[in-house]
Amino acid sequence: MIINRLIAKNWRNFRQINVPLRERQFIVGPNASGKSNLLDIFRFLRDIVKTDGGGFQKAVRDRGGISKIRCLSARQDPEVSIEIHISETPGASTKWRYALGFRQETRGHRRTYLTREQVWKKSELLLDRPDEDDNVDTDRLTQTFLEQINMNAGFREIAQFLRSVTYLHLVPQLLRFADSIQGRIVEEDPFGQGFLERVASVTERTRRSRLRKIESALKIAVPQFEQLEFLRDKNTGRPHLRALYSHWRAKGVWQQEDQFSDGTLRLLGLLWALLESDSVLLLEEPELSLNLGIVSQLAPLISRMQRSRRRQVFVSTHSDALLTEPGIDGTEVLMLIPTKTETEVKVAWDVKHVRRLLEAGLTVGEIVLSRAGPEHAEQLSLLKWN
Ligand SMILES: Nc1ncnc2c1ncn2[C@@H]1O[C@H](COP(=O)(O)OP(=O)(O)OP(=O)(O)O)[C@@H](O)[C@H]1O
Ligand SMILES: [Mg+2]
Repeated sequence: MIINRLIAKNWRNFRQINVPLRERQFIVGPNASGKSNLLDIFRFLRDIVKTDGGGFQKAVRDRGGISKIRCLSARQDPEVSIEIHISETPGASTKWRYALGFRQETRGHRRTYLTREQVWKKSELLLDRPDEDDNVDTDRLTQTFLEQINMNAGFREIAQFLRSVTYLHLVPQLLRFADSIQGRIVEEDPFGQGFLERVASVTERTRRSRLRKIESALKIAVPQFEQLEFLRDKNTGRPHLRALYSHWRAKGVWQQEDQFSDGTLRLLGLLWALLESDSVLLLEEPELSLNLGIVSQLAPLISRMQRSRRRQVFVSTHSDALLTEPGIDGTEVLMLIPTKTETEVKVAWDVKHVRRLLEAGLTVGEIVLSRAGPEHAEQLSLLKWN
């Protein structure tokens, strides 16, 4: 399934969002324009339905409460809302719509409560809260029905789908030192400390087939890279990856993951995530530590992988190399455009001058990112530092 539209109000630095979404969706904008905040909307929905220790209240609390979430320039309107539309396949009509609105009590315990929760299946409204029971017992409005098994029977498919949303912002150093920080992995492991455990947790057959695919990609991307293998430490039982490099010695040399380069580790993590599941994947700046030639291949790589695995992929990026592939069309790019009080989200194709340049044959990378930087970036090097 894929999320084919996002509508939101007062979420962090966005007052209003209403955009269609594609199976492969790039998000571009200057620093602090809200790329991570936008991805966080999907992580928030996932946190609501998480089976172990999830829930609406916790999802809000983990973000520092509603005062941190609600747009600072929202003025009179105290409500934050999110609505997603979901279809079975890209291009198919919308099957599910899920909408959520919430705010904070102005008195008493200042609880965060739902102002609405609605579910549509096609055009049929299956759930419409607050209902009569909610009005009698307002405590009910502190929980969504989506997170409750005995309430979501009619639309559990949505909860299951959101539960497997994955966020990846791989930090090679954390992966390398996974052993010494064992047991202190951030929930959902976005930074990859538990990556090796994830590789270890699938069946041998699945692991082999994935590692074989990754091996062929790394052979192209990493000089002298020959072979990739999974193994367990004989003494500690901990999982490891090792690679055979053909340099240095005639027979090659095996090196363990803590000796892999940053780019090798990031590429490994990225490819594994693409192969991992068929739900939404949120990728933060996958271009980091990768060679430009490799970065320019990431977009076609994602679409090729999507042919066998229908995984919707959102990519936040600062890289024009990533967007230079001519196959990327203007509807696959969301531009975050900061104004004085908020950030606007626009589909690149809908921005008149961008469309004109795309029609003239320029690539998205050539047009969009030159506009995504701060207006006076050159002043940075002119600053007096002492
Ligand atoms: N409730 C809020 N209201 C308004 N703005 C907010 C709110 N919460 C966070 N922000 C702003 O959002 C910005 C951070 O956005 P975010 O981290 O998503 O940027 P980004 O585009 O991912 O940047 P980078 O490219 O540096 O990673 C900060 O400037 C912060 O002030
Ligand atoms: Mg960011």
